[in-house]
Amino acid sequence: MKLFLDSAKIDEIVYAIEKWGIEGVTSNPRHIKNSGKSMEYFMNEAKKVVENTNITVSVEVDPHLNKAEKIAEEAKRIASISENFVVKIPATEEGLYAVKLLKDTSVKVNVTLVFNPVQALQAARMGAYYISPFVGWREERGENNINYVSDIVNAVHNYGFKSQVLIAAIRNAKQIIEAINAKADILTAGFEVYKNAFDTPYTKMGLDIFSQAWDEIKKQEG
Ligand code: E4P
Repeated sequence: MKLFLDSAKIDEIVYAIEKWGIEGVTSNPRHIKNSGKSMEYFMNEAKKVVENTNITVSVEVDPHLNKAEKIAEEAKRIASISENFVVKIPATEEGLYAVKLLKDTSVKVNVTLVFNPVQALQAARMGAYYISPFVGWREERGENNINYVSDIVNAVHNYGFKSQVLIAAIRNAKQIIEAINAKADILTAGFEVYKNAFDTPYTKMGLDIFSQAWDEIKKQEG
């Protein structure tokens, strides 16, 4: 299981690579807008941060594009900026056709906005590099994710496709555990989700108990 950071903030990306050893970055137009910087700034800075590493950065095509040829053209432009860039293409019929058009090129595609196993199966058939089902968006709207994640993993893995299933829009540690149990290849979560998952109050409580005991040993030793 690889861990990716879901962010377009360069300081968070640098921190997560250095301290957490994350293996990839995922971005989307909303993350770039929230970073307060331009698309060009994000792509140029992210490119520099991951240069000479195996860390991939997923960058989305213009979501207004709705013709496969235009999507494929834009994907080629984004991919030409850095060999670490994987291009995010939406799981629409035209988007999936664009993935097919890119199959025999060097462009790696992350099929995004996947919400059912059939979209995932088709993305795998068309040669996607990553396939990104969004769990948080469904759960926020009251949907049950128990079978959703494992059905998608099965749709891709049962048939030996090379695509990697990247569970996205993870909002909490419970969803991370669901991705692990479904044997997903990768998960991507935001900076605060990892911070909260790594820093549990029980570990802090244990440290307080052991620190107190440590101090008492020192007192006993005189
Ligand atoms: C990752 O690839 C997706 O863009 C992401 O998980 C969606 O996250 P958001 O809901 O935080 O925008």
